[in-house]
Amino acid sequence: MQTFTSFDKNSLDKLVTLLKSHNTEFISGEKLCKSLGLSRAAVWKNVKRLKSLGYKIESKPKIGYKLFEDTSLLLPWEVLDGLQTNRIGRKIYYFDTIDSTQNFALRLSEKPHENGSLVIAEKQTKGRGRLNRRWVSPKGGIWLSILLKPDIEISQTSLFPMITSLALTKAIEKTLRLDPKIKWPNDITLKGKKVAGILIDAAVESNKIDYVVIGVGINFRVDPRKISDKIKDSRASHGVTTLLREDQESDPKKLIQEFLLQLELLHDKIISNNLSEVRKQWLQKSSTIGKTVTVSTHNEIIKGRAITIDENGALVVSRRGKLKHILVGDISYL
Ligand code: BTN
Repeated sequence: MQTFTSFDKNSLDKLVTLLKSHNTEFISGEKLCKSLGLSRAAVWKNVKRLKSLGYKIESKPKIGYKLFEDTSLLLPWEVLDGLQTNRIGRKIYYFDTIDSTQNFALRLSEKPHENGSLVIAEKQTKGRGRLNRRWVSPKGGIWLSILLKPDIEISQTSLFPMITSLALTKAIEKTLRLDPKIKWPNDITLKGKKVAGILIDAAVESNKIDYVVIGVGINFRVDPRKISDKIKDSRASHGVTTLLREDQESDPKKLIQEFLLQLELLHDKIISNNLSEVRKQWLQKSSTIGKTVTVSTHNEIIKGRAITIDENGALVVSRRGKLKHILVGDISYL
């Protein structure tokens, strides 16, 4: 298992920065040794390590090294390079394989100075979906969790699915030029098929939220058959898709950076109680409003017409002339 954090010391990030700053020309081994304070053998070892992480580096004896292609792995220093947020994603834990980023982030909640921390993995062996479902998380997807310790009331917990789904649709639109929709409460779909899911775990203390862990699973560049073969849940029932096909070029870093930025901006709107704009934007991206739906909650099944969402993110369904506000549930379209 390979693990990196944004704060543990390693010379890899510095080496990448140096190689990137010379990306059209070779940089000599001697210069690298001097700048990094390392021996030639150590530089060579680090270059080998970078190659194993997917960086394409050419080495020429007596001339030096040249980086000619970046990695597509979401290594901490790659995600931080160009990240525009102030708090979210400034501290990063990266795993090539983990059981669940969500479980790791939940454990982080007990530690100090973790507000905004991002946990990210290339692959999960025990990914968790909503309603205790399994979440199949092969390589090629983006599997991440964010820990937040916001100073807000319990009643506002339901706003997190809303801002997360909105931030993700905005980021997908902007960086990939696709047209995703939100299926209430927080499935992201592309041409009607699920492409990403959101899981929110929250803990409360007295009347306040202690912490929120936002889990996001994105089928970024995976073979959807690998997922649908293994699941028998809502994703299978309305189909699974991927943002990019396996033969398409990809840069997941831009998508993540944009998502984190949008999430922070929307999160700030919750904190400053500026919700009407968030709700308006969410409604524009929703595929649910106006449809006849069946909603399964923990104690009933409600059939009716989805009218809107209220200021808490609850779905408002009209049934036989009466309005029902549903905070948690699973829906299907009729
Ligand atoms: C859903 O059921 O739609 C929500 C799926 C959420 C999956 C993500 S992947 C990253 C994080 N870690 C987990 O174990 N689950 C969430």
